[in-house]
Amino acid sequence: MADDESLFGGVEPDAAALIAARPHLSRDADGGLMLEGVALASIARDLGTPCWVYGAGTIRRRLAEMREALDAAGLAHAHIHYAVKANDHLAILALMAAAGAGADVVSAGELGRALQAGIPAGRIVFSGVGKTLADLAQAVTAGIGQVNVESREELAMLSAVAEAAGRAVDLVIRVNPDVDAETHAKITTGKAENKFGIAWDDAEAVYAYAATLPGLRPRGLAVHIGSQILSLAPFREAYGRVADLVRRLRASGHEVSRVDCGGGIGIPYGAGAGPSLTGFAGVLADTLGDLGLDLMLEPGRWLVGPAGVLLASVVLSKQTGERRFLVLDAAMNDLVRPAMYDAWHGIVPAEATTGEPQKPVDIVGPVCETGDTFARDRLLPALGPQALVAILDGGAYGAVMSSTYNARPLAAAALVDGNRWAVISPRQEIADLWSRERVPAWLSDAAFAGA
Ligand code: LLP
Repeated sequence: MADDESLFGGVEPDAAALIAARPHLSRDADGGLMLEGVALASIARDLGTPCWVYGAGTIRRRLAEMREALDAAGLAHAHIHYAVKANDHLAILALMAAAGAGADVVSAGELGRALQAGIPAGRIVFSGVGKTLADLAQAVTAGIGQVNVESREELAMLSAVAEAAGRAVDLVIRVNPDVDAETHAKITTGKAENKFGIAWDDAEAVYAYAATLPGLRPRGLAVHIGSQILSLAPFREAYGRVADLVRRLRASGHEVSRVDCGGGIGIPYGAGAGPSLTGFAGVLADTLGDLGLDLMLEPGRWLVGPAGVLLASVVLSKQTGERRFLVLDAAMNDLVRPAMYDAWHGIVPAEATTGEPQKPVDIVGPVCETGDTFARDRLLPALGPQALVAILDGGAYGAVMSSTYNARPLAAAALVDGNRWAVISPRQEIADLWSRERVPAWLSDAAFAGA
């Protein structure tokens, strides 16, 4: 992944550099880590660990920064549709709703969450390569703002659903521009061999086909080439290709009034600067700005990723052979990104440390897999049992990708807003783990017992 150690030229940023690069993090006079105005240790004391903490002020500030960059590039009309998959907590969605953002959803569940949090259906777009008839029916009945259609087959399904509901549905055609986003293979979506979107060469024919189907109003195009994209070049290439397609479609007499530009803007997981929003907005303006389009964006990670941390406590440290291990009470079931994408996350002490020299240590969780490793050879001061650490940049694709593997309850979560904070998810109880499971009576039936 583009954010792995190789990015740092072998010298990883230390805790001070990581904190200095994140305006929402600071140290108080005693060395305790603060998120906005709240000491993380006080949240950990109340809620226990592992525990997610998100900064509402930080998310609002990032949303405003994105808005300003778009406005400054002359794109005041561009709409932001937050990609719910990055962090679907109701509190985060309610914050987005209050800030005027729309949503990008990919399942009936995400649609339900967005509506529940108060995001109006008309401001929701529905993406995804495998929407079922039931998903589409739910979206159409709710009055969804737009469906991003990814295949001819889906067009036929959506038309049938629209007809049955007696509604006309606005849609855009998601095209696959065959552009390399230069990110991790597992989160690249805009190459010809990926499952996403309509093949570039079929796009015009599919658009024309959509215009013939009852109940459908083709409004334009959508494109999303991947996630954690750190260079602007792939965006420029993809949006440039889409602009050409808009011109060609219009020349053939089609109405094309919208382009949904997807998400994918990366964040620095280290201490660097990351892609510039001004630069990104400039690319949008250069490529699509003069076509009189309604532009839409679907950012997820950029808005919420840096705003969250995963707090964990040290269980113990041990030495096996040559390697030193720091075993945390958080694991890959909480934050799977390092195991799944070899992703690099900053890990810093959240309380004052003794100032002993830093030694390289492998930071691992208690799950019974070697992949349950958050970091290798990380330089940290000596940390004893109960010491609190913060795993940084866990606001996106953190809690949403959690599981209860190894029968580990889902972690608690808290939302900070300036100087106040609230619990937004209590820790799952052990008994909740099996509360929806049923054991058939015949398993304990005498006739089968001992079989
Ligand atoms: N729109 C569509 C159609 C998407 O598929 C995605 C993300 C987004 C928007 C938001 O992308 P973002 O701005 O967050 O990059 N679990 C992976 C990331 C998967 C992204 C999937 N699609 C990770 O932890 O890195």
